Amino acid sequence: MPPLLDTRDTGRLALTATSGSTAFAGGPGMPTAGFNQAYLGPTILMQNGELAAEVKNTLGEPISTHWHGLLVPGEHDGGPHLAIAPGATWQPEMSIGQDPATIWYHSHIHERTAEQVYFGLAGVIHVTDGQDDARGLPSTYGLDDLTLVLQDRRFDASGRMVYDPSMMDIMHGFAGNRMLVNGQVGATAVVPQGIVRLRLLNGSNARIYTLYLDDTRPMHLVATDGGFLPAPVALDVLRLAPGERAEVLVDFSSGGTPVLMSDPGQAYGVLQFATDSALSARITRLPDQLDGAPADLSGAEVATRQFTLDMGMGGMMMGGGGFAINGRPFDMRRIDFEVALGSVERWQIRSTMVAHPFHVHGVRFRAVTENGGPPRPENTGWKDTVLVPGEAEILARFDQPASRETPFMFHCHILEHEDAGMMGQFTVT
Ligand code: C2O
Ligand code: CU
Ligand code: CU
Repeated sequence: MPPLLDTRDTGRLALTATSGSTAFAGGPGMPTAGFNQAYLGPTILMQNGELAAEVKNTLGEPISTHWHGLLVPGEHDGGPHLAIAPGATWQPEMSIGQDPATIWYHSHIHERTAEQVYFGLAGVIHVTDGQDDARGLPSTYGLDDLTLVLQDRRFDASGRMVYDPSMMDIMHGFAGNRMLVNGQVGATAVVPQGIVRLRLLNGSNARIYTLYLDDTRPMHLVATDGGFLPAPVALDVLRLAPGERAEVLVDFSSGGTPVLMSDPGQAYGVLQFATDSALSARITRLPDQLDGAPADLSGAEVATRQFTLDMGMGGMMMGGGGFAINGRPFDMRRIDFEVALGSVERWQIRSTMVAHPFHVHGVRFRAVTENGGPPRPENTGWKDTVLVPGEAEILARFDQPASRETPFMFHCHILEHEDAGMMGQFTVT
């Protein structure tokens, strides 16, 4: 597990973006970056209330620290307008107020996000209310409550992790040839013989996972991006696109050594499990109910907007362009539209050429349709990122303000697409 950084007693959060050297899979040490460590960052535990954060940048290039899934105003969101210069410190005084959820943080500098995240500037956040015992959920960090950052990375023949996207890599998103879980190659998760909670983050630049356990035991989905479901949903496969999180419970009481796999058609292993009967199995039955609020946003809509996620082949040929939303590539100086604070909007999103994971800052939303039908089971809870296979409709209420100086972003979470211009920005006033 990444180290735990508990902010609950102090109300303070101190992160330092730092460079380091990491040897993956016994290969040579290579330059990486992280928060408070050489690669990735600590798992931050936070609760509702005031949080004085501080992010110091000791790297030689500007970074930012976006709290992906945290419901805070634009000025605290850490998007591209909130760059932290080399040597500088950013100190947002935040007020946290949302349902418990597994969210994350990562750098978000326009045209640099993909590379900065790839080399390690990302980590997980647990927003907690301390009520998981009452919910009957495992909550012992690293024992029966595992935080798992899934990332694919590309290693060359000499074992070096490389990032050198070609035009094709930008088209499809940069894919790796090895799996990292929490920055480790070939790790095994040792768990007690009981119910274990897996908090899965797809922290990959572009890869979409279709996860399942190789011995066919089910995963019981208990939370999506924005918080708990009303009740667990048993899944044989769980699709997780870049930026998305899912919390699942897996029953290990029968022991065994299942492997978390991806892509049934072209299967590859993601994480090996082993059980240890000496570890205390605190939770041994699945909860029937959770307290996730069924999100009903219907009946209050004030606006409908349409978005086409463009990947123009012609533009690509002309010199790398073509990535845009509604024909307009991202421009830091252009506000694409303005949303009224507190209003509910229906957004209709259409993908072109490939399925794009669509993310919106400053809200949690509800996926209402997917290709005209009901959303997949893993998309029925609160979301902030949703894979748009062909078309999808979402409903969101915009409760956080964002000014022209620090607007909210909406974008494809394939980081190569985002950096190439598949992003826009809006205000909420
Ligand atoms: Cu996870 Cu705009 O980002
Ligand atoms: Cu975000
Ligand atoms: Cu995309």
